Amino acid sequence: MKMNAYGWMILWVGILSVVMTSLTIRNPRRLHLRSHKPSSFTILSSSSSSSISMASLQDSLAPPGLQYDFYQTSCPDAETIVRSKMAQIHSRHNDASAALLRLFFHDCFVHGCDASVLLDDSHGNQSYSTEKQAVPNKTLRGFDEIDVIKEEVERVCVGVVSCADIISLATRDGIVLAGGPFYPVLTGRRDSIRSYYEEALDEIPSPDDNITRILRLFAVKGFNERETVSLLGAHNIGKMSCEFIQNRLYNFKDTGEPDPTIAPNFLNQMRQKCQGDNSSHSRNGLFESMHSGMSNFQELSSSMSSGAGFDSHYYQSLLMGRGLLFADQQLMAEEKTARLVRAYASDDGSNFRSDFVEVMVKISNLNVLTGSQGGVRLNCSLPLFSSK
Ligand code: HEM
Ligand SMILES: *[C@@H]1O[C@H](CO)[C@@H](O)[C@H](O)[C@H]1NC(C)=O
Ligand SMILES: *[C@@H]1O[C@H](CO)[C@@H](O)[C@H](O)[C@H]1NC(C)=O
Ligand SMILES: *[C@@H]1O[C@H](CO)[C@@H](O)[C@H](O)[C@H]1NC(C)=O
Ligand SMILES: *[C@@H]1O[C@H](CO)[C@@H](O)[C@H](O)[C@H]1NC(C)=O
Ligand SMILES: *[C@@H]1O[C@H](CO)[C@@H](O)[C@H](O)[C@H]1NC(C)=O
Repeated sequence: MKMNAYGWMILWVGILSVVMTSLTIRNPRRLHLRSHKPSSFTILSSSSSSSISMASLQDSLAPPGLQYDFYQTSCPDAETIVRSKMAQIHSRHNDASAALLRLFFHDCFVHGCDASVLLDDSHGNQSYSTEKQAVPNKTLRGFDEIDVIKEEVERVCVGVVSCADIISLATRDGIVLAGGPFYPVLTGRRDSIRSYYEEALDEIPSPDDNITRILRLFAVKGFNERETVSLLGAHNIGKMSCEFIQNRLYNFKDTGEPDPTIAPNFLNQMRQKCQGDNSSHSRNGLFESMHSGMSNFQELSSSMSSGAGFDSHYYQSLLMGRGLLFADQQLMAEEKTARLVRAYASDDGSNFRSDFVEVMVKISNLNVLTGSQGGVRLNCSLPLFSSK
């Protein structure tokens, strides 16, 4: 049988998945270092569903200009450098994977995966606001990690590898390091010329959004209900500052009462972790209190006593009314999404992981710039481009 380029790509991706799978099995869940209580259910290897079906890869091949191993000749070591640098970063800060995953989501959701979220100014004009400055901006993390990786890549190939590709690859590698599934990432993205402040304000869902608005915002970007519910499974990992749930705990919708959908014992637990500024429920007060230290951070994965990482604990916590954000718990507010939550909660996470892999491939390819669009930034935070 004669294979075309596409056939070879599938084969190569298949081989890679197998390799990655065996790596993950040899380094079982030790990989994520968050402390958690013993699990009440068996967590199997995270990698049982790490290979992706032909059909889904085909779907996600949509953007012309992206290809597997785009830097094969122009910077053959690019992906290896990203992976080894990411491993180094993760070994020092095991929360880097979560930070990057969120950064990646914010990048791709606003004008596509074009590294627009990284810019410190737009059009070289300091007076434009940037996505970084858009709400909820204050807590995006991972910029330094991207800079460190980019610097390392630039050392070997000057002005060749885009910041957008670095975010996509580093996020994928970070997910694997956090015990999640591997998925193939096509490359060839170009970086945006500017940042999109207004779009970030309008298009990124807010922690207080209801299910109707959440589904609408994701539908605008082409994600159906099932894809939306699986994407939110990213909240299996990472941490969250108390400001985002303060109102739910103390003054839900200005009622002076907590959100009635929070399970009572969970409310008490959360109130202990987020003591908050009881005298002032103004937004400013909450923003300030958030900077007062780590005690104001709530591990996303500790909302359940078992598990951390890419298993089903996020969905199980929603079944018990223990979602952290109002937006998280809203997945239970309508049958069409609650049904999916129950399905993802029903096993060790295999269902979730296989859907998550597909949806991550899809979001990685969202509205990318390719070919001669945009450029390749020399420094990810500045809109200065290489001549290549
Ligand atoms: C309705 C949609 C969503 C809302 C309202 C939302 C909101 C939030 C908020 C408020 C935080 C806490 C940030 C902080 O305190 O630093 C957070 C954290 C996080 N989000 Fe989301 N998010 C949504 C969807 C997503 C999606 C689709 C992804 C990725 C695919 C994602 C990945 C993450 C990760 C990994 C963290 C942890 C970040 C860290 O540890 O620094 N989120 N999200
Ligand atoms: C920078 O942006 C501001 C605000 O949009 C505008 O008023 C100003 O003229 C711009 N300056 C330059 C040099 O483009
Ligand atoms: C966050 O957004 C607010 C309002 O848009 C802005 O005033 C502030 O400077 C931003 N913060 C950062 C760190 O960019
Ligand atoms: C959901 O939020 C939107 C505004 O974002 C609002 O118009 C709508 O009434 C809300 N729906 C429900 C059921 O609360
Ligand atoms: C907030 O105030 C109420 C009544 O004033 C008090 O019962 C509660 O313990 C306070 N909570 C915190 C976290 O300080
Ligand atoms: C990139 O630009 C920023 C200024 O926005 C600067 O602080 C940083 O050092 C630069 N990075 C490199 C590698 O030159």
